[in-house]
Amino acid sequence: MTEEQTISVCCERTSNPVQKVQSRTVEKWNERWEEGKTSFHLPHVHKLLAEHSKTLINGRKGIKILFPLCGKTMDMKWLADQGHTVIGVEISNIAIQQFFVENNIEYTINHVDGLVKGEVYQSNDRRIQIYICSIFDISSDIIGQVDAIWDRAAFSAIMPSEREKYRDVIISTMNAYTRYCLIGVDFDPSVKPGPPYHAPEVAVEQTFGAHLTIEKIGEMADLREKWVKMGHKYFTDILFLLSLKA
Ligand SMILES: C[S@@+](CC[C@H](N)C(=O)[O-])C[C@H]1O[C@@H](n2cnc3c(N)ncnc32)[C@H](O)[C@@H]1O
Repeated sequence: MTEEQTISVCCERTSNPVQKVQSRTVEKWNERWEEGKTSFHLPHVHKLLAEHSKTLINGRKGIKILFPLCGKTMDMKWLADQGHTVIGVEISNIAIQQFFVENNIEYTINHVDGLVKGEVYQSNDRRIQIYICSIFDISSDIIGQVDAIWDRAAFSAIMPSEREKYRDVIISTMNAYTRYCLIGVDFDPSVKPGPPYHAPEVAVEQTFGAHLTIEKIGEMADLREKWVKMGHKYFTDILFLLSLKA
């Protein structure tokens, strides 16, 4: 059984209420980090971010960028090194600790007012702040509003039944100037259940279309060996730019 299949099987077998499914999912992600089954992690900045960061930043200096379900992505350090403040949200403390240790960044762990089940890991210069909690426990009351959002393997890691709840959290952090870059994924969903869950343009439209404008701005074939071994014949990352409707 592949690492992706382990998680989806656990989620699909249970007939318990949503809350229980959610915490079981969190448990599975933690196990995955503990066992080092993290092939989603890229050892470099994502190509679509490197190509489209100007669109995300839009000429602004020192902006606040949200990374939902951040893992230990190098995209955070890359943008922090450019003078921006990054706000990550991640449920695994292993991922967060690895991020700081592997990047040689000193940090402290601090209490967060209003966050019952969580804390924040902060670099000494406060430019990198990673909240250890479920994304569903985050709101603008805790992190305020953000200028930009980088969503790679976050929306597509959320179970389809929880997409609207995820949307509400994300939208609560946005204002009229927030630029939200989301990578959707297109593949043959009959090959295997998620995560990643099938998240093509129609899913992005169904989830966000009533509230946000959606523009496709990039695309990248991502048929890596692990997808081929699973039986995929195509696997495409599609980059969308979303912003609040006027
Ligand atoms: C597919 S990985 C993507 C990580 C990162 N965005 C990247 O590009 O490498 C999804 C991450 O979300 C975390 N995660 C899963 N469910 C979560 C939740 N409800 N709240 C916060 N983090 C979550 C997992 O631990 C995992 O690190």
